[in-house]
Amino acid sequence: MSWHKIVTMPGDGIGNVVLPEAIRVLEAAGFKADYIEAPIGWKYWCEEGNPLPDKTIDLLRNFKLGLFGAITSKPKAKAAAELAPALQNKDYVYYSPIVKMRQLFDLDICIRPCRTFPGNPLNFIKRGPAGVFEEPIVDVVVFRQNTEGLYSGVEWTNPPEIVRDALETHPKMDKYNEVPGEDLAISLRIFTRPACRRICTAAFEYAKKHGYKSVTVCEKPNVIRETSGMMEEEAQKTAKNYPDIQLWSTNIDAQMMWLTKNPQDYGVMVAGNMFGDIISDGFAGLVGGLGFACSANIGQDVAVFEPTHGSAPKYEKLDPPIVNPIAMILSACMMLDHIGETGKAERIKNAVAGVIAEGRVRTYDMLMLKGGPDVFDRGAATTTEMTDAIIKRL
Ligand code: NAI
Ligand code: MG
Repeated sequence: MSWHKIVTMPGDGIGNVVLPEAIRVLEAAGFKADYIEAPIGWKYWCEEGNPLPDKTIDLLRNFKLGLFGAITSKPKAKAAAELAPALQNKDYVYYSPIVKMRQLFDLDICIRPCRTFPGNPLNFIKRGPAGVFEEPIVDVVVFRQNTEGLYSGVEWTNPPEIVRDALETHPKMDKYNEVPGEDLAISLRIFTRPACRRICTAAFEYAKKHGYKSVTVCEKPNVIRETSGMMEEEAQKTAKNYPDIQLWSTNIDAQMMWLTKNPQDYGVMVAGNMFGDIISDGFAGLVGGLGFACSANIGQDVAVFEPTHGSAPKYEKLDPPIVNPIAMILSACMMLDHIGETGKAERIKNAVAGVIAEGRVRTYDMLMLKGGPDVFDRGAATTTEMTDAIIKRL
């Protein structure tokens, strides 16, 4: 059995709480690895003017597998104000280190499974036709293009003259020609055909491998004709190679309505960066929310696994910690699946499912409590107790 080397990036806030818990579970499942901790996040922005230090980039380049917790980011003015005094007024510009990591290593395939765990009190319920409450089983996997679209970072307020000149060649720009530069903000939505093809292919391959009957491409090609249109076109071309899988097509706005009406109808979803982000949060909300939402960022060479939640700074100082480690643990399972350790991943997922179904150990979110130090008096388990319960089931 090979001994893996994994770059761990706990980051900020509760990233430092949940990542070590996931490692405890991996070890308990008998997964053998060395963990090399790498710096990332707000602290490094403040101290070095760089939230993604070169050391971390080098480690990822070398070892190719990363487990990431969460980072804190703050708006432009706050970011500038919190820089170390020696770095102030020196043109340092904050950018999201996770977005940069995705682009640098071309982690263009983002996978976000959203699956119901029976017995989770946070599961979506709805009233059925006879007035009876139903708890539809959601088994959705969102494939989000992870490097382009509205997150390409090509944007301006007060765009340079040359950009304005170029844009003004488009007839639809006429009505903006007189807008003063400082009143004009532009964020480009860039799609490339190879990236659309790769995300569509990844979605169909996954559907085939795991027996899903449909892939739904979720964009808005009737309005955003060029970019959404390209994704739609590539989905249709890709679908021809998978005759046993149906291709459905929905618009993002309608999809947000349908996902609460008939969530059980959907299987694999595929979308560009922004819409993929939106639908994955939508579906995650039906299966327990941020405490359960896991994800993978996969490139040709490097792959990084992370919960979709952020650093939840208001809970970072609570001792003992209250947050749910399951999203991070499930993200670690996605890493195991990615490297072919599917048996161990399955055992961990079964242990998680067992603890949830049994219902004895529940973190504050599962009890629908407002977070705070008093949640333990009201029956909530600590982060550590939840992990312990999962490990015991292994
Ligand atoms: P957040 O995801 O950190 O927290 C929102 C709320 O969700 C929390 O207050 C908490 O009630 C709940 N929550 C989050 N994780 C949980 C867990 N594991 N268990 C139980 N409850 C949990 O989002 P927020 O508050 O909008 O952002 C906080 C910081 O995190 C910001 O600086 C933001 O920029 C950053 N962020 C980072 C992300 C990342 O690292 N990928 C993603 C989202 C936000
Ligand atoms: Mg999101």
